[in-house]
Amino acid sequence: MQDLRETLDPAKLRLYAPMLNLSGIHLDALLDAAAQVCADPALLSQVEAHRFATFETDTPWDRTLPAGAPSLYPALVLLAQLPALRQFYRERGISDDVLADTLHDFGLWIAHAYNHGQGHTLGEFNWLTHHFSGKLFRLGRLQFVAVKGHTPAWMYRSRQTGRLVLLAPEGAQYKPSGWAQDTFRVHEENVWTAHLRQDGCQVTGYPLLHDGRADSQPVTLDLEDYQLLYQPGDLVLDMHIPTGMPLDLEACRASLRRAPAFYSHHFPELHPTAFQCESWLLGPCLEEMLPPESNIVRFGRLFARATAPGRNDGQFWERIFDFTPVTPETAPRDTYLRRAFLDRLSAGLPICTSCGLIPLDGPSPA
Ligand SMILES: CC(C)(COP(=O)(O)OP(=O)(O)OC[C@H]1O[C@@H](n2cnc3c(N)ncnc32)[C@H](O)[C@@H]1OP(=O)(O)O)[C@@H](O)C(=O)NCCC(=O)NCCS
Repeated sequence: MQDLRETLDPAKLRLYAPMLNLSGIHLDALLDAAAQVCADPALLSQVEAHRFATFETDTPWDRTLPAGAPSLYPALVLLAQLPALRQFYRERGISDDVLADTLHDFGLWIAHAYNHGQGHTLGEFNWLTHHFSGKLFRLGRLQFVAVKGHTPAWMYRSRQTGRLVLLAPEGAQYKPSGWAQDTFRVHEENVWTAHLRQDGCQVTGYPLLHDGRADSQPVTLDLEDYQLLYQPGDLVLDMHIPTGMPLDLEACRASLRRAPAFYSHHFPELHPTAFQCESWLLGPCLEEMLPPESNIVRFGRLFARATAPGRNDGQFWERIFDFTPVTPETAPRDTYLRRAFLDRLSAGLPICTSCGLIPLDGPSPA
């Protein structure tokens, strides 16, 4: 318990504050919470028990606070993992700069909750366990986690021309329009089923179009020319886009160049095959809503997209209105995107998130 007391010591926390992106009233609130917990041996051992469950047995915690715990208790559970995380970074030879860039989200989400009238708390505990377990790294503009890919497509690239082709997975179901079953919260009866067959040196399947919809006309690829780059279940670098700065395309491209080198240097045992992203930012409708030169549209064009079952407009609401509950009547119309989104909704046009893939050696040149 002495170690934990040292980790939560005010002088130590002040030292870590810049790395955790904490200052002012948020740092003061964290110091108060730490002092309260350190003064109560029962709470202190609860912090250690929750840290152990979260990071060493991977047991989800329902985040019910122990009796008498301060509202920032979940933040202290994460901080209790900091010594082990720093040790992990040292063992892997990962710099403190990457640690600080990665942990920037910690202070950001504390401030976010506070600015949304929730007081000093940490609603994004589960998300931040990725950062504190050494699974997620921020490398420049983008964050990455190595995971098994779930993007529903097989990605091939022509050795001769560099052309990318995505084929629908065997058994995937699509509406007549080509969108995956259950997209837009609408279940259709008259779906068609895709097949993917490899026969010697050829593969025959249903290609995915630029916006991710499946084409009902099959194509055959010659495998002497087309190389398989990704299939579902392959290890991929899953991308996340932190808030807080514009989605500058050059900064994104720099992150995409940096990530494979980072993983092969620090995690040589991992062999990712592609980048993957699932986000509202890849929603094909954004191309109809925003100017072609906008950051979001240019970012989306880096990807080969795939439609996935059950996708809808939920994440658009969260991200465009910053997690504030609004209705079409009350939603603010103060940015171009907010106006375009609300206009599209009132016109009854479809909106859904999308999955996308990028080859590990980078997107095709612009
Ligand atoms: C990703 C992000 C940085 C893009 O912002 P950007 O670089 O300004 O994007 P664009 O230049 O394409 O923006 C075009 C227009 O849409 C607006 N816009 C962009 N993202 C917006 C958002 N999340 N909410 C409201 N308006 C937004 C911009 O302000 C701009 O309108 P304006 O000209 O009236 O100011 C921003 O959306 C963001 O911070 N999102 C939160 C993080 C996120 O969504 N991550 C992905 C989770 S899956």
